[in-house]
Amino acid sequence: MPRYEFFDLKPAIPDMAAEVLHGLSLPAKSIPPKYFYDAEGSRLFDVITDLPSYYLTRVETGILRDNRALIARRVGTGGCLVEYGSGSSVKSRLVIEACEPAAYVPVDISRDHLEQSAWAIFDGYPQLAVYPTCADYTTPFELPAPASALPRLAFFPGSSIGNFEPGAASRFLRGVAQVVGSGGWLVLGVDAKKDRAVLDRAYTDAGGITEQFNKNLLANINNAVGADFDLGGFHHQAVYNEGAGRIEMYLVSERDQRVRVAGTEVAFAEGERLHTENSYKFAPDEFVAIAEQSGFECVDILLDDRAYFMVLLLRAHSSSRTGGS
Ligand code: AVJ
Repeated sequence: MPRYEFFDLKPAIPDMAAEVLHGLSLPAKSIPPKYFYDAEGSRLFDVITDLPSYYLTRVETGILRDNRALIARRVGTGGCLVEYGSGSSVKSRLVIEACEPAAYVPVDISRDHLEQSAWAIFDGYPQLAVYPTCADYTTPFELPAPASALPRLAFFPGSSIGNFEPGAASRFLRGVAQVVGSGGWLVLGVDAKKDRAVLDRAYTDAGGITEQFNKNLLANINNAVGADFDLGGFHHQAVYNEGAGRIEMYLVSERDQRVRVAGTEVAFAEGERLHTENSYKFAPDEFVAIAEQSGFECVDILLDDRAYFMVLLLRAHSSSRTGGS
């Protein structure tokens, strides 16, 4: 099999202008969080992951490091590691070094980012076949043919699953179960419910980086669809909605204002909120129940000593290839 091949499954490119205008036309204005991640947004997110108050990345990395022998024992070596997202992070490298897969398949909708990070992994691991796959990983996709005979292990770190609404999270998990097939594995990072003060600090840092990250969404819209958002006309708000079990992020309008977005005028009242992200948090039992209703058996729950974050080792049920509802 080739050592490197780029697989382009030609995912449909979302119509950003239409999605943004739709979100701004709702009674409760809202923009999907995927639009945070232009080059500057990705850079700001990387800065966030190093902030002392943003425990998620550091704690998850520690859990993976402390449990790498156990993870390798469970999932075995020589398989195909399918990473949901571009990878190339410290976390990807930990899993690669622990599980010694024969093939690594990072899956991302962003071609450039995918190719760049795949090359970095390719350079670092001469024994590893690398097959970056450009696809929309929120729906099941075909694995690259050279890797299709290998046992499969999916990796979805970062608590990115927290961005999905509950129904979408279940559908996503069922899709992953189909991709890995019966007996296949998912190593999943999930942020835990915890003291609200800890969550508040993680999503509103003292240095204002999360505020910059949140507001950069407006800059991205300005650049990508043609809009004249005044970044100084909005401020960051993150609130823990305990009943719903999620951090909600908003941009709050400082004053009455009108914004032109892709040729359409949008009015904001003083104090009106634009919803930009939900980040769901789960109690361990709560998430295990969801996983078990979505095609997986939970084999291990790996936690840090404060139980701030969990890495779940999930195994796809034997029936998962044929789906279910
Ligand atoms: C990348 C979705 C996991 O929800 O913590 C960080 C994004 N938002 N700070 C998260 C984010 C604000 C992050 N995820």
